Amino acid sequence: MSEAPGVGILGTGSYLPSRVLSNFDLEKMVETSDEWIRTRTGIRERRLAAGGEFTSDMAVAAARRALEASGTRPEDLDMIVNATITPDMPWPSTACLIQEKLGAAKAFAFDVSAACSGFLYGLTTAHNFILSGTASRALVLGAEKLSSIIDWKDRNTCVLFGDGAGAAVLGPSERRRVLSVHLGSDGGAAELLCMPGGGSRRPTSPETLAGGLHFLKMEGKEVFKFAVKAMAAAAEEAIAKAGLKPSDIRLLIPHQANIRIVEATAKRLELPMEKVFVNLDKYGNTSAASVGIALDEVEAQGLLKPGDKVALVAFGAGLTWASVILEW
Ligand code: ACO
Repeated sequence: MSEAPGVGILGTGSYLPSRVLSNFDLEKMVETSDEWIRTRTGIRERRLAAGGEFTSDMAVAAARRALEASGTRPEDLDMIVNATITPDMPWPSTACLIQEKLGAAKAFAFDVSAACSGFLYGLTTAHNFILSGTASRALVLGAEKLSSIIDWKDRNTCVLFGDGAGAAVLGPSERRRVLSVHLGSDGGAAELLCMPGGGSRRPTSPETLAGGLHFLKMEGKEVFKFAVKAMAAAAEEAIAKAGLKPSDIRLLIPHQANIRIVEATAKRLELPMEKVFVNLDKYGNTSAASVGIALDEVEAQGLLKPGDKVALVAFGAGLTWASVILEW
């Protein structure tokens, strides 16, 4: 995969719905405890979208902030790429709905489906469209209403996820420049993490609904094992492509799935936890939105200075993995 100077992040934004669901709230819904959730995952609370608030609405709120931060008008966007596994509808793409709501008339728009790796797949896609000259200014989004596909009676999954959106505007820039990217997939393990119903294989029917096939299904232990290896390996690949060593990385911004996965990744990379950004305690796993939200919080908190090397890394359903190295 190519590496080239001159394409960077011009501005970031994020949006978290206001409703907070704490571990203590979950104790009243399923047989679980704050202690179990905290020690197994690091999550304390997560945000839930309102009933009438959809993935596209959260994406638009995050996008407006990123557009403002980057000094970009919606009508100046050439492309919108939206990563999600919880689109407003199976089709048309949520990106098209976002384009309409933003008034980004000139932009072509499409979704990418790479689950928790989605934001980095979107970032890499936009980066390459800009490098090729097809687009100059791109809006990259990761937005999820995971609460709409969670079985709130299944304690194995309902404690892990939350809703939200992250955004970045990309364009020609020497600041926050993309140094290298690495993407990978393994469809052989697709069944470990999926929503089995509602597609062409098992169209929605009374039977699929009765079987709960419209909910997210996960083999947690297997996904955990995969994640620990894939996150570190993806980051190592991208770091090496940038001509760097893990010790050159000032900040690791990992997908926020589980603190134990994050800690294991940092350990494999021999990075101390002071060099790792964590906000999963507040938001849980927001899938495609996670890295975008984290990136925006890193920017808002002023954690980086020009020249710092940053590693973004994620894994997700597919299975998929991705890493992007930035020079701040
Ligand atoms: N509260 C209390 N007990 C629970 C809960 C809960 N919320 N959930 C599960 N348990 C029980 C299980 O039933 C099991 O009981 P049993 O031994 O009687 O069968 C016990 O706790 C232990 O479960 P384990 O599976 O051993 O727990 P583990 O340490 O593996 O942690 C977890 C489970 C947190 C799900 C972990 O496996 C994990 O984080 N996996 C990765 C998940 C992930 O990151 N997914 C991201 C992908 S998201 C995407 O791409 C959309």
